[in-house]
Amino acid sequence: MTLFEKLRCLFTFGQGVALPLPEISENTTPAQLFEQWFADANKSGILLPEAMSVSSCSADGQPSSRMVLLKDYDDEGFVFYTNYASRKSNELVDNNKVALLFHWNVLQRQIRIEGTVEKISAQESADYFHSRDRGSQVGAWASKQSQKLKHDSELKDRMSHYQEKFAEGEVPHPEFWGGWRVKPHAIEFWQGRANRLHDRICFEKQGDNWQHHKLHP
Ligand SMILES: Cc1cc2nc3c(=O)[nH]c(=O)nc-3n(C[C@H](O)[C@H](O)[C@H](O)COP(=O)(O)O)c2cc1C
Repeated sequence: MTLFEKLRCLFTFGQGVALPLPEISENTTPAQLFEQWFADANKSGILLPEAMSVSSCSADGQPSSRMVLLKDYDDEGFVFYTNYASRKSNELVDNNKVALLFHWNVLQRQIRIEGTVEKISAQESADYFHSRDRGSQVGAWASKQSQKLKHDSELKDRMSHYQEKFAEGEVPHPEFWGGWRVKPHAIEFWQGRANRLHDRICFEKQGDNWQHHKLHP
């Protein structure tokens, strides 16, 4: 983190609890509010404001969470990329219900998202894959994400193997790697306030429309 980023964080933290929720009209969509808050998080100097927790659930009901990076969002949903053979992906194939969580501490804000996932198109995944740096592209081939390492040097050996294999030309997009789109049906925006009297506003999808209500903190 640069000194400038640290100063920006300190400045934002100073505003902290003084920020109420913005005016929400009947027509405000959660995507509009998300865009505003995500822009604030990007301006605040927070490292990796796009980091979010994604929770999946195993077939026998065991939830698990891990951090991923949000790479795209719009009215349709929130996109992250991963290995389609990983633990999270296997669980999402069996049970497409998912939860996301953002926490931007200096802004005292949290966003909770619940929805279902679908894979994005292979073309979209390939386009994003090829926009990544070459090391990450080769790394995606080398990592059997979530599987047990057979021995300490296995990953290094696999990386060397693929570096050699793809020494020339474009690294092909592996079919086992791509994006998931989380299509939300409920989103809660939480703003920390004084005396723990925090603001909470929940949006719920009813058909094609969003309804909203507030909750006790
Ligand atoms: C800040 C942060 C960002 C991460 N971003 C991603 C990501 O975008 N995609 C991904 O597959 N793993 C990412 N990881 C690693 C995951 O948290 C996790 O270790 C990995 O995806 C394997 O999870 P699984 O075994 O539950 O499938 C990130 C970790 C951190 C701490």
